[in-house]
Amino acid sequence: MSDSKETVVSNEGNENNTNQSTHKSKGGFSGQIGFVLAAAGSAVGVGNLWRFPYLAAKDGGGVFIFIYLVLVVTFGFTLLTSDIALGRKTGKSSIYAYAELNKKWKFLGVLTFIVPVLIMTYYAVIGGWITKYMVVFMRGQHKAAAGDSFFTDFITSPVSPVIFGLLFMVITTIIVYNGVQGGIERCSRFIMPILLLLIIGISIYSLTLKHTDDNGVTRTGMEGLLVYLKPDFTGMTVKRFFQILLDAMSQLFFSLSVSMGIMITYGSYVKKDVNLNKSINQIEFFDTGVALLAGLMIIPAVYCFSGIDGMNAGPSLMFISLPKTFSAMGRIGQFVGLLFFIMAVFAALTSCISVLETVVANCMEIFHTSRKKTTLIAGIFYGGMTAVVALGYSIFYFEVKLPNGSVGTLLDIMDYISNSFLMPLISLLSSILIGWIVGPKVIVDEVESTGDKFTRKHLFVFMIKYVVPVIMFVLFLVSTGILDLFFKK
Ligand code: PHE
Repeated sequence: MSDSKETVVSNEGNENNTNQSTHKSKGGFSGQIGFVLAAAGSAVGVGNLWRFPYLAAKDGGGVFIFIYLVLVVTFGFTLLTSDIALGRKTGKSSIYAYAELNKKWKFLGVLTFIVPVLIMTYYAVIGGWITKYMVVFMRGQHKAAAGDSFFTDFITSPVSPVIFGLLFMVITTIIVYNGVQGGIERCSRFIMPILLLLIIGISIYSLTLKHTDDNGVTRTGMEGLLVYLKPDFTGMTVKRFFQILLDAMSQLFFSLSVSMGIMITYGSYVKKDVNLNKSINQIEFFDTGVALLAGLMIIPAVYCFSGIDGMNAGPSLMFISLPKTFSAMGRIGQFVGLLFFIMAVFAALTSCISVLETVVANCMEIFHTSRKKTTLIAGIFYGGMTAVVALGYSIFYFEVKLPNGSVGTLLDIMDYISNSFLMPLISLLSSILIGWIVGPKVIVDEVESTGDKFTRKHLFVFMIKYVVPVIMFVLFLVSTGILDLFFKK
């Protein structure tokens, strides 16, 4: 589908386009459903499938879940609303969207643009890892995948991770090359319903599991469900509570793809008659629903086969504990594992597309180049970067001590700068800009411009003016390690 056409239709789902004056000569989503599925596609990613469950297991089950839910409907909703409304109001991506709000604040748009530019260097690498596992399960090698050193051997090889990363990058590039409606929307409309069905199916299966280990101890999926949902207050101190709060907060940003310009870009493709209030509720619901289901699917299964210990795997949950769990399930494990990794590839792909799209959309506005040319150049550049980052565990291996105390590789450094440093800073600055400089009315008016009710209007205004700036300031100090500097001495 050509990018130069005047897209956007009056009729949802109708692929024939009529003119619409509001969106210049820019392609857009066909309607609300197309937009919600694409935005949910961006939001639902490895964060939901892998990070949410392992954080829930680590942070006291129900305690984490409860805090996360409260944050979604307050912080998540506020940041998602301002990003999407800002995009639709200006019809631009982050750099020019912020510049249009206030010329002096163009720097905030540039800062926001840096996040997808950085994330794109490593997202296809992770996508490649997941694709590798999908292929392994397809070829019936799930026993090998359960081996202790399988994952390490794989990522430290100088060939395989590069090939899979590049494959993932090529597919992403082809979809973005085909435009907003013909590429991104079409792909999300196909993928998201399947993803939802798969995750519901595997979760139900997971709850029916029952396993007796070598010591004769029997554990069931339903007991695992309790472990997942029951608030665990053991060892709860004020410090631990804050740690959980912090985990939940950074998970929320990452999971909703906010404060990185992605939702601004997607918002810029939304028709003027789409009900934003409703769309935002649906995106929030979809993303949170999939995160909760992912926990429901993973925690009972891992608990059943490996007990509590298996769940303390942390980041290696997806690539080490899960393959072990699938393998322990016997023959059916190969099938369930395959379904799981197909789903994970889908989730990662729609997220990766949104990152590349945001980079491309900003570049198209900066350089006034066509979508096809811009996508090709970006695709080639990021193909190179993907290879470099994929080699960050072999040829280019080095470790750096990060300001927050952890030790990181190349991938971790990119992740740290974008998620721990830039994202809280961007939310802080954008809440100051919207809350205090241009005023929340800009956003409220955009949401209400269709004549629909903005149901959480007062909450939005209160959050963006008072709560978001303060909390983001604290989050920024903590995640950059600045706070520690004061307390240590
Ligand atoms: N929101 C995605 C997830 O939950 C991750 C993501 C981050 C996607 C950044 C795009 C950009 O995994």
